[in-house]
Amino acid sequence: MVHSEQAEPTRRDFLYIATGAMGVVGAGALVWPFVDQMNPDASALALASIEVDVSAVEEGQSITVKWRGKPVFIRNRTETEVDEAKAVPVDDLPDPLARNANLPADAQATDPNRGVAGQENWLVQVGICTHLGCVPIGDSGDFGGWFCPCHGSHYDTAGRIRKGPAPENLLIPPLEFVSGSTIKIG
Ligand code: FES
Repeated sequence: MVHSEQAEPTRRDFLYIATGAMGVVGAGALVWPFVDQMNPDASALALASIEVDVSAVEEGQSITVKWRGKPVFIRNRTETEVDEAKAVPVDDLPDPLARNANLPADAQATDPNRGVAGQENWLVQVGICTHLGCVPIGDSGDFGGWFCPCHGSHYDTAGRIRKGPAPENLLIPPLEFVSGSTIKIG
């Protein structure tokens, strides 16, 4: 287990809000604990990586898991969602960078660069608005992706900021499929 405290933002950096129903959580997943959301304990922060069984997450469904004290959205996107995201020219995006920890820092924010390599239906991203740190709501907003109600940021079906004050796309954490249905994050 890697000591990761240095990479952790301080609690002051984040303001969380409740986001309503979170959908089905697959077996073995860690549920984002609303009660403790302002106070992630030391053991959670030290958890460098997690493995999540996503076999129960059907097309069009999302789950939220907790990784290093942060919510991570895992969505099994529909074909329509993927097609919509693919149809957007990178030049139209406020943030043209993929923000994908698995790719070089200058990778473009195309849909394939946002989805999981080889399994484009899956989108895994840190569920913290890049404006001031609220937790966006899924299946919402003007672009059918996520909406942050704190100051009105709209993210699309690839988690890219499209409208509102957030400066960057939602961050994609280091991840890989370690089996057909298990994603390792971190
Ligand atoms: S924190 Fe999300 S829009 Fe301000």
